[in-house]
Amino acid sequence: MKNLRMSSITLLVLFALSISIFNMNILKVSASRENPAENYYSEIYRPQFHFSPEKNWMNDPNGLVFYKGTYHMFYQYNPYGNKWGNMSWGHAVSKDLVHWKHLPVALKPDKLGMIFSGSAVVDERNTSGLFEDESGGLVAIYTNAGETQQQSIAYSTDEGVTWTKYEGNPVIPNPGIEDFRDPKVIWYEQEQKWVMVVAAGDHIRFYSSKNLIDWEFMSKFGENEGAHGGVWECPELFELPINGDPKNTKWILQVDLISGAVAGGSGGQYFIGEFDGTKFINDNPPEEIRWTDYGKDFYATQSWFNTGNRKIWIGWMNNWEYAESIPTYPWRGAMSLPRELTLKTIPEEGMKLIQTPIKELQAIRKSPYQWSDLKVTPEENILSDIKGNMIEIKADFELGSASEFGFKVRKGENEETIIGYDVKSNQLFVDRTNSGQVQFDKQFPGKHLAPLQPENNRVTIHIFVDQSSVEVFGNKGEVTITDRIFPEPSSNGIELYTKNGEVQVISLSVNELDSIWKK
Ligand code: FRU
Repeated sequence: MKNLRMSSITLLVLFALSISIFNMNILKVSASRENPAENYYSEIYRPQFHFSPEKNWMNDPNGLVFYKGTYHMFYQYNPYGNKWGNMSWGHAVSKDLVHWKHLPVALKPDKLGMIFSGSAVVDERNTSGLFEDESGGLVAIYTNAGETQQQSIAYSTDEGVTWTKYEGNPVIPNPGIEDFRDPKVIWYEQEQKWVMVVAAGDHIRFYSSKNLIDWEFMSKFGENEGAHGGVWECPELFELPINGDPKNTKWILQVDLISGAVAGGSGGQYFIGEFDGTKFINDNPPEEIRWTDYGKDFYATQSWFNTGNRKIWIGWMNNWEYAESIPTYPWRGAMSLPRELTLKTIPEEGMKLIQTPIKELQAIRKSPYQWSDLKVTPEENILSDIKGNMIEIKADFELGSASEFGFKVRKGENEETIIGYDVKSNQLFVDRTNSGQVQFDKQFPGKHLAPLQPENNRVTIHIFVDQSSVEVFGNKGEVTITDRIFPEPSSNGIELYTKNGEVQVISLSVNELDSIWKK
């Protein structure tokens, strides 16, 4: 009897317990249904501290402008699919260039065609007369791509959320050139005028305007200068102090080529010279080529307008060779990290554009590991206890007897991405031959090399590893290598390796990085 009672009590308790567990499960299920944030930006290969749209296709950054405390980023966007098409301007905003908030599509195709790449300016003196308020507003200058490519403008009185297209578009009709696109406009203080650079097939054209509406052709540059493996796109023009001296400046003309860049396919080059308000004069021999980045995935860079003494740009991490077949869904396309630009004279090499990750990125560092004065031998991986898919590595090496050294990241059982330095050839490299999914295009796998001279027998390597990319800065930004990778999420090993000898680590830090996409 007693036993029977006991067991019925047990049964009752068990029943009650199972009901509450059942209820808890229901609660859990409905909680995750009600709270999609739990799964937000968690797809395989989803960049965690780089910008990507929630869904659909994205290419070039467009209309980068800092206005009233907010960084705006527009971008080439297909609102209806995961491949290129229906080109519109997507829109996102940020207070720190690290965390982004998505806003509705800003510019959509119209009777003049799709909305291709372009830029945006703050017309703070209402030079255009498009604003009722004398403190002006934002003006976007972009390519309308229909039967021909022509330059048009639109203006916004609500800080970039909605735009009105100028009724007299195009402001620069097509001059009989098939590829005529990607206007980037700057304010040329000395002559109180707007200057536009725009790509025109095999050269860059320079226009000027007092009001952003009436444009006058001034000059062209480049038919016989630099690399011409493909059509020129997305030009950029800006002035930088040499070695930080504001009284001593040079002008940089950045030009992309759709194919034939240093690592194959699309990439960027830059020219250093003078701009006299009318024309650009290259300081260097026309056949000399200065590559912007030595990886395969840094294209269509654009800098923010109106950031005072800082010059910051961002690029699309992709390559037209395989852009439409990278294995991501339901979005396709990611931006690089924003990079700050300076100009420096390097002993025996001359003047160089220096790119460094913006300091704001330090805010997403967590769990730092640090070492100094370490001898690294081929036998031991001192980083074997550290795992991570989102990490920043900063290392200062003194060359020793090793013929090669560096890091293997996103290491799994059968895959790894190698970021190394070849001592004999003085080259920094990223080898993504065996980095994970590489078969989707035969142009994807490979090793990408950048020339890098040691300074006082030392080399620094600064790396950002995300779910599907590596960005590498050599000798504090003298060279950069940007490459997409598509490893298994479980491939999270890290190795510090050397070959055929030792290398001395002067200092080393490894930081795990936080996601910027928590809701
Ligand atoms: C560069 C580019 C631009 C063009 C845009 C079209 O990637 O080809 O020249 O404006 O993409 O989406």
